[in-house]
Amino acid sequence: MKIGIIGGSGLYQIDGFKILEEKELNTPFGEPSDKYIITEYKDKTVIFLPRHGKGHKFPPHLINYRANIWGFRKLGVKYILSISAVGGINPKMKGGDFVIANQFIDFTKSRVSTFYEGIFSKEDDTDLNDKVKEYLNNKRVVHIDVSEPFCPVMKESLKNALSSLNLPFHQNGCYVATEGPRLESSAEIKALSILEADIVGMTLIPELVLARELAIHFASVHIVTNFAAGISENRLTSDEVIEMMKQRNEDIKNILKQFLDNIPSNFNCSCEEVLERAAI
Ligand code: HPA
Repeated sequence: MKIGIIGGSGLYQIDGFKILEEKELNTPFGEPSDKYIITEYKDKTVIFLPRHGKGHKFPPHLINYRANIWGFRKLGVKYILSISAVGGINPKMKGGDFVIANQFIDFTKSRVSTFYEGIFSKEDDTDLNDKVKEYLNNKRVVHIDVSEPFCPVMKESLKNALSSLNLPFHQNGCYVATEGPRLESSAEIKALSILEADIVGMTLIPELVLARELAIHFASVHIVTNFAAGISENRLTSDEVIEMMKQRNEDIKNILKQFLDNIPSNFNCSCEEVLERAAI
């Protein structure tokens, strides 16, 4: 089983994960954020990619999300777990809590969020023989269903991991993706809270949608680093985000291990069927 982990920098040196190789890849969509760190954990191959690249080079709106996800496809990854910092909109979701996302609202503006561009589609450069290749190479227009965007089996494994570690967490968070790189205004956060968004971040979309377009199982776990704008009385700073991520680093590593130990070998979900009858 090959599992991809997309996270912030500094997440690939974990005790018990043996680094096998660092792989630089190119894709029809350009270059991924960084090298893929291929590791072995028990009977699983776990491949890490820091979404912002080493040294945090790429801001959220300029990450090459398509290249990042395509690279995982090239490496044969069928499951991706995404980890990121978020602001808490729901007052129950406070600094230091973990949230498993269940739904999303997309308020990004400038991002390419599909592989399927009809007549403009790129050719598949893999030797896979599947619907992705068929749709791309035949220049099809594809509309995937995202009513239930996240893999239910991976979400359950995350939930089990978090509860067995006794960490504060919330299931079923609605994630709103904003364009960034600026933070939100208090009025925006108020509006988003009326829309029942629980957490806010800048990276889940289009990462999730692109993985799903390749029929990759996807789940995400988020660390609340701050209350979103206007909820907290203080000015928001990047320092507090980084500080909280540092504080939670050990927990994140433990969650990963528990998650990988918990993940079943049989997935009874429909994630891999998402491309059936999705093309026009
Ligand atoms: N807004 C958007 N993205 C974030 C925040 C926030 O308040 N905190 C961490 N990532």
